[in-house]
Amino acid sequence: MLADNVEKILISEEEIVERCKELGKEISTDYEGKDPIIIGLLKGSVPFMAELIKYITIDCEMEFMAVSSYSGTESMGDVRILKDLDRSIKGENVLVVEDIVDTGKTLEKVKELLYSKGADSVKVVSLLDKPDRRIVDIEAEYVGFTIPNEFVIGFGLDFDQKYRNLPYVGVLKEECYK
Ligand code: IMP
Repeated sequence: MLADNVEKILISEEEIVERCKELGKEISTDYEGKDPIIIGLLKGSVPFMAELIKYITIDCEMEFMAVSSYSGTESMGDVRILKDLDRSIKGENVLVVEDIVDTGKTLEKVKELLYSKGADSVKVVSLLDKPDRRIVDIEAEYVGFTIPNEFVIGFGLDFDQKYRNLPYVGVLKEECYK
């Protein structure tokens, strides 16, 4: 079973739902009258975005983008756009939804790209933040949970495309990736 490869549960499903309610409320207040375009970075953000938007109580639109990031547990260092947006974001207020901010390289490139497309503002909401690993000086405006420097899986986060469907955030057993 999938769960047999989990060393420990770091953040439970209940905790994630509760935090999504808080973040949704905060975002709804901050973006009142701004009709943000909420852009999910595929594929890791999907479960978090699905949960979070239930608690956003203002008009907003959903978009998706795919950029390349990790292969296994190591960063490739270079970020490529694999799926671009379906619509113009010129003059729009954009909120990027991420699963985790690790080195910060992905976010830096994505923010750069969205501003180059003419976005008025680009902010980020990330389910997780791993500040110990940061290389680029960048922070998400909204963070679900700050976690220690451990490779995590579940609630959208993968190891070699697996474990995204776990309903919690957990740490993978070392024998699964060593
Ligand atoms: P960054 O560019 O180093 O900030 O990496 C961001 C991306 O790396 C995330 O969107 C994840 O897809 C992936 N990533 C970073 N840390 C982890 C982790 O602990 N588990 C799974 N994926 C991760």
